[in-house]
Amino acid sequence: MTMNSKLMVGNWKMNGSLAANASLLSDTLSGLGGVSCRAAVCVPAPYLAQAHSLLTGSSMALGAQDVSAHESGAYTGEVSANMLRDFAVRYVIVGHSERRQYHGETDAVVATKAQRALAAGITPIVCVGESLAEREAGQTEVVVKRQLAAVIHANGHCISEIVVAYEPIWAIGTGLTATPEQAQAVHAVLRAQLQAATAHADRVSILYGGSMNAANAASLLAQPDVDGGLIGGASLKAPDFVSMLKAASR
Ligand code: PGA
Repeated sequence: MTMNSKLMVGNWKMNGSLAANASLLSDTLSGLGGVSCRAAVCVPAPYLAQAHSLLTGSSMALGAQDVSAHESGAYTGEVSANMLRDFAVRYVIVGHSERRQYHGETDAVVATKAQRALAAGITPIVCVGESLAEREAGQTEVVVKRQLAAVIHANGHCISEIVVAYEPIWAIGTGLTATPEQAQAVHAVLRAQLQAATAHADRVSILYGGSMNAANAASLLAQPDVDGGLIGGASLKAPDFVSMLKAASR
């Protein structure tokens, strides 16, 4: 269990438009009365400037969904950590399963991305998680530990500055959620791994992600090692996201 308040992060993925973002953010911000958890939204790169200006002065932090493993230079299409920093980005998702699956990101690339973020003063939200086949083969623990170990080894004493998100691939966007007990079991494994690496493991928020919604958030967040959520689909609906932020504030 961390000493911090819960952290709830929306992951818009490749959704949105100038008009839709403006109404989603305005509806979300107007519902924040009574919300005391930490909150952020990770928006597509072209909308960082828009979201930065709409979130300025609010309690909602800005996040990005990916960052380049390179510092600068001839990497067409990439966005660097320093560019994110220019828009006051506080968090960046690294190693989301969709990037690992569709864009060939290895554990080593993910670890370098986390390093780039930390060097720019941005908190990486490092995603780990097993596929259904891996879970059924009893490999869940081995897989998530391997994914986190790469980031621990690359980042040394800075590791207490990261956020971890456990996202079972079979639960992402499927409506299948890990049970609170399944989530807690994996979160406890990740916490122990962090404790072995740093004396400050209690500073690391471990988020759950994968079909978290307004109906199941409270029971997941009640687990001792579930420090918040990484929320895809439900973060695109302001009333749902606000209700989850409220559940995380109790
Ligand atoms: P979901 O996505 O909430 O839509 O399942 C979570 C994520 O992929 O971060």
